[in-house]
Amino acid sequence: MASCLCCTKPIAGAGRYHPRCLKELFGSPRVPAIPFGLADLPAQVLKTGAHMSISGVQIKASVRLDPEKTQLEVVAAGGTHVLKPEPQQFPALPQIENLCMSMAADMGLPVPAHGLFPMADGGLCYIVARFDRVKEERLQNETMFQILQATEKYAGSLERIGKAIHTHAANVGLDTIDFFERVLFCFLTGNGDMHLKNWALLVRGKKIGLAPCYDLVCSNVYLPQETDSALTLCGKNDKLERSDFATLAAQLKIDAKAAGDIFEKFRHAQEQMRETIGRAELTIHLKQKLDDVIKSRYKRLYEEGAAIPAARNP
Ligand SMILES: Nc1ncnc2c1ncn2[C@@H]1O[C@H](COP(=O)(O)OP(=O)(O)OP(=O)(O)O)[C@@H](O)[C@H]1O
Ligand SMILES: [Mg+2]
Repeated sequence: MASCLCCTKPIAGAGRYHPRCLKELFGSPRVPAIPFGLADLPAQVLKTGAHMSISGVQIKASVRLDPEKTQLEVVAAGGTHVLKPEPQQFPALPQIENLCMSMAADMGLPVPAHGLFPMADGGLCYIVARFDRVKEERLQNETMFQILQATEKYAGSLERIGKAIHTHAANVGLDTIDFFERVLFCFLTGNGDMHLKNWALLVRGKKIGLAPCYDLVCSNVYLPQETDSALTLCGKNDKLERSDFATLAAQLKIDAKAAGDIFEKFRHAQEQMRETIGRAELTIHLKQKLDDVIKSRYKRLYEEGAAIPAARNP
């Protein structure tokens, strides 16, 4: 059975998308055409007068449906979606990002509508709905890089993000749990690239809260030597153990019972994650690599020294 190129869940019959997933993403069950390919994208972006938005290694564009609502166009302002094509250095990155976002959504994490779509050159790109747009209005979104007045996106700690959430969030209880769950999710899915610009606070009306998930990628499949975490936890960013995560939960003031329940919820999610990988739009080789990463992370978190350790004092 095929799987939906948006949510990665099984799909009955013909077609590659659940109509409801397309509707959620574009407001209509039609697949929009993308009249440009990877090689055309820099020119498309420059044509709009926008700055070339290359952050890190990946080119991306802000897009929206054209007035006829049949195809996507690159725009400098008023974009409703972010489009990320496949970078030459990281084959199948759109597919891996789409898969990781789907797995995060399955865990109940806040994930904007997203999917994989063919560009004019046949390559698949990843498209995600902008969470900083509500109708015509643009919401203020500040990354932790800005909030913490950092000078280097890899120089920071998860604890400092936790403190910033405590300082600014309207609903500290919910956001600290959300943050803690994402930290666990990233460890379990081999994501070592959650630097300060991949966490943000969003202002919704008068309420400040953790912005929805973005840029969730199993970077470990491309960079197997990468450290466990882009940011430090308990003063280190590698060889993380369950006790380090338990210490983070305590520092976030998540009570021990709630933290234990979260660890258990993730423990039970392994099978579902591995099934989702099995359905993803990836080569057998990449599926195997991802499966190996997840298996080994689960082993580290739940089997090696799996007795629940007491949290160290934050
Ligand atoms: N769905 C979204 N809605 C609104 N803004 C978004 C969304 N996804 C990403 N962004 C913004 O765009 C920026 C870049 O996005 P993203 O992190 O996905 O790209 P990237 O090129 O993979 O980044 P990097 O390699 O630098 O980590 C983010 O810092 C975030 O502020
Ligand atoms: Mg990023």
